[in-house]
Amino acid sequence: MKIIIVKDQNVGGKEAFKLVEQEVDVGKLKTFGLATGSTPVTLYQELVNSSLDFSQINSVNLDEYIGLSAEHPQSYHHFMKEHLFEAKPFKQNFLPNGLAKDLEEECSRYDKIIQDHPIDFQILGIGENGHIGFNEPGASFEGKTAVVDLTDSTIQANSRNFEKIEDVPTQAISMGIKSIMASKKIILLAYGQKKAQAILETVEGEVTEEVPASILQTHSDVTLVIDEAAASLLTK
Ligand code: GLP
Repeated sequence: MKIIIVKDQNVGGKEAFKLVEQEVDVGKLKTFGLATGSTPVTLYQELVNSSLDFSQINSVNLDEYIGLSAEHPQSYHHFMKEHLFEAKPFKQNFLPNGLAKDLEEECSRYDKIIQDHPIDFQILGIGENGHIGFNEPGASFEGKTAVVDLTDSTIQANSRNFEKIEDVPTQAISMGIKSIMASKKIILLAYGQKKAQAILETVEGEVTEEVPASILQTHSDVTLVIDEAAASLLTK
């Protein structure tokens, strides 16, 4: 794992942008794996302000809440439109459909999309409990796209974006850890003290399904862009 420690989220966005830019410049980015949450926002802002052209690049997102329409202000479809897609048109944008009638079929459809568009470069955030995408502690490292139950701590953490905690969906469709690990390159972003324990366990802890992000230790091309607060518990 390569670790870049930055002052704050703004500098983190700029550092991550440089890594994306390199890939686009050498023509290696055909499919871009994207994440939601507050963490990648500064990177997306850098992308929007840049002259990078994504019109020949596909994007595949990690996850979507079950029960929210694409137009719902808290859906990840809406988030991506607002923060990136409206300003930067891609060839195609793929996200799971949280309103699919047959959720099993939707998971298979999404796996087929990932199979047809192998991810070259995956952006990841991390949950306070070490989750990646919506793969919560205990999720199989061999897992593919699945319907997942969100843990109370994730519902609590994500409730800041909703009016009240009862409005937070309790389930999501998430790309599996196996698909995330199949990406050629991965950048994990984390900012703030609240992420420090998860970063410590991800970097220095045992590789265990109890800390989903710890599997990244076994990937050959992972870069962490984290701020001083998120890095504050690291000992090495
Ligand atoms: C959600 C998303 C994750 C994200 C995490 C952290 O649960 N499914 O992809 O990494 O939240 O969010 P934030 O960046 O807002 O801390």
